[in-house]
Amino acid sequence: MIKVLFVCLGNICRSPMAHFVFKDLIEQEGLSDSFEIESAGTEKFNALCKAGIHEGTKEIFKRMNVPYKEHIARHFQAEDYEYYDYILVMDNENMKDVLSIINKEDNKHKIKRLLDYTENGGNVKDPWYTGNFDETYWDVYEGTRAFLTHLKLRGKI
Ligand code: 4NP
Repeated sequence: MIKVLFVCLGNICRSPMAHFVFKDLIEQEGLSDSFEIESAGTEKFNALCKAGIHEGTKEIFKRMNVPYKEHIARHFQAEDYEYYDYILVMDNENMKDVLSIINKEDNKHKIKRLLDYTENGGNVKDPWYTGNFDETYWDVYEGTRAFLTHLKLRGKI
């Protein structure tokens, strides 16, 4: 079982998008039994006010035929670092915030930026600020496929 946690800032736009896009991908490939997937955010606010998935992300799910369930924002905790095998963050700020929450170095090399599995690397831009959920979707689409390819090439699945 490979345990994957997608992490962004608010846990209402990008990381739930990555969660359900990746879930759909592995279901299509018949690999669901090999994975446990979840998402979390580094800031507490949305978790405290029990915010659900952003309407812009839900609109993408519907348009791209990505099945999803409602998700209530959840704060990333230091224990998540021990539990999950891969902590896939969306941008450099998430990386800094996760390191600050775990309060130690990533000595198990679990924390990666999602797009670092792609040829071009980079940050998944935050549609909360850009308003561009399509751009985020295609980054997430490419990143999750590149991550799965990485696991296959390394013989992890
Ligand atoms: P996300 O976007 O990190 O992709 O979920 C954000 C959503 C909400 C906020 C910030 C970023 N916020 O400040 O409430």
